Amino acid sequence: MRAKKLLAVMLSAVLAFSLVACGEDKGTTDNASTDNAATEESSSDSGETADAPAAAGGNKVGIAMPTKSLERWNRDGSYLEEQFKSKGYEVSLTYSDNKIDQQVKDIEGLIADNVNLLVVAAIDGESLSQVLAQAKEQGIPVISYDRLIMNTDAISYYVSFDNYTVGKLQGEFVRDQLDLDNAAGPFNIEFTAGDPADNNAGFFFNGAKDALQKYLDEGKLVVQSGQTEFDQVATQQWDTSKALTRFQNILGSNYADKQLDVALCSNDSTALGVTQAIESDYNGSNQVIVTGQDGDEANLQNIVDGKQTMTVYKAVANEAVATLDLGDAILQGKTPDENLIKEAGWSFECAYDTSSYDNGTGIIPSYLLVPTVVTKDNIQSELVDTGYYTMGDDGYPHPVG
Ligand code: BGC
Repeated sequence: MRAKKLLAVMLSAVLAFSLVACGEDKGTTDNASTDNAATEESSSDSGETADAPAAAGGNKVGIAMPTKSLERWNRDGSYLEEQFKSKGYEVSLTYSDNKIDQQVKDIEGLIADNVNLLVVAAIDGESLSQVLAQAKEQGIPVISYDRLIMNTDAISYYVSFDNYTVGKLQGEFVRDQLDLDNAAGPFNIEFTAGDPADNNAGFFFNGAKDALQKYLDEGKLVVQSGQTEFDQVATQQWDTSKALTRFQNILGSNYADKQLDVALCSNDSTALGVTQAIESDYNGSNQVIVTGQDGDEANLQNIVDGKQTMTVYKAVANEAVATLDLGDAILQGKTPDENLIKEAGWSFECAYDTSSYDNGTGIIPSYLLVPTVVTKDNIQSELVDTGYYTMGDDGYPHPVG
């Protein structure tokens, strides 16, 4: 029984409850133990199989994550490892310290190790063509995980969240908070986007920008810095300190005697830097609306404390479930399509998309999960009641496990 295997491996009371409650439903609200995840950057953790190998096409899975320095990838790595192990796969998990060359080496190592499937979240979507050509030559299928890998025909599928919708939710949140359809304005807004090497970053930015473009055109929203293009607002490597420095400069140059109403940040690591800049360098006394994405611990604390206004939460535990079922189907020689969603019996929403993600060699069939807006008002219902986080005695949510 799948449920028994999962329980044996995941050792999580919350998951145990969710599986019993959902029968064979395979979505999980669990943030289970991360104990057996790789603990060092650029390290590889050859996991043991929890059961007999499940797939005819082999039982070794190589998982390449970008870095442990950005919170979410630690969760992704652990969830993926647990999921694949629960189905009897042997897992090698690597983290590459956000270093492109290191990730290439790590993937070469996984290929040399004769993995049967690669799951890769790229540091730089443009830099893996060569190494993935090797994978293709050896007949190793590759799932592009969360970030689309560009310019390679070695990718079989893409699993992610609906990235454009992430940005759209941020933009719509700002529209609603400021009541832009009715209020006279003008309001001042500044944008902070992600890493240009990450294909997702443009989707997030465009989703947010498109939702707000009408108000920018009408002059109800004004960008005092004049930085309105992706290249001007991007943050290399999604780095918190780079976002902090850039925002300190923006505040110093443009807001000494003006009110800033909105800091639209594409994710939580950049929002953290922007929030620090507002705390240290902003003269105004209003509460700036700050957006984010991921539900990182420090950002949830800031949301509780009123320093960040929202985050777009993506249940990466479910992204791992989808990746397991997809990988499993591929290794069984199937050609997964939209039917996988029904057949797998996921308890979470997911769309099969065959038009949005072209990696330069053609459209990559994509499984896209659905993100959710989290604010102070629904942290309890969206994150705690669902089992992803517990509410600590300190009054802040902490990831389970
Ligand atoms: C992910 C985001 C994350 C960002 C930085 C993106 O590719 O989709 O969830 O915030 O990388 O880690």
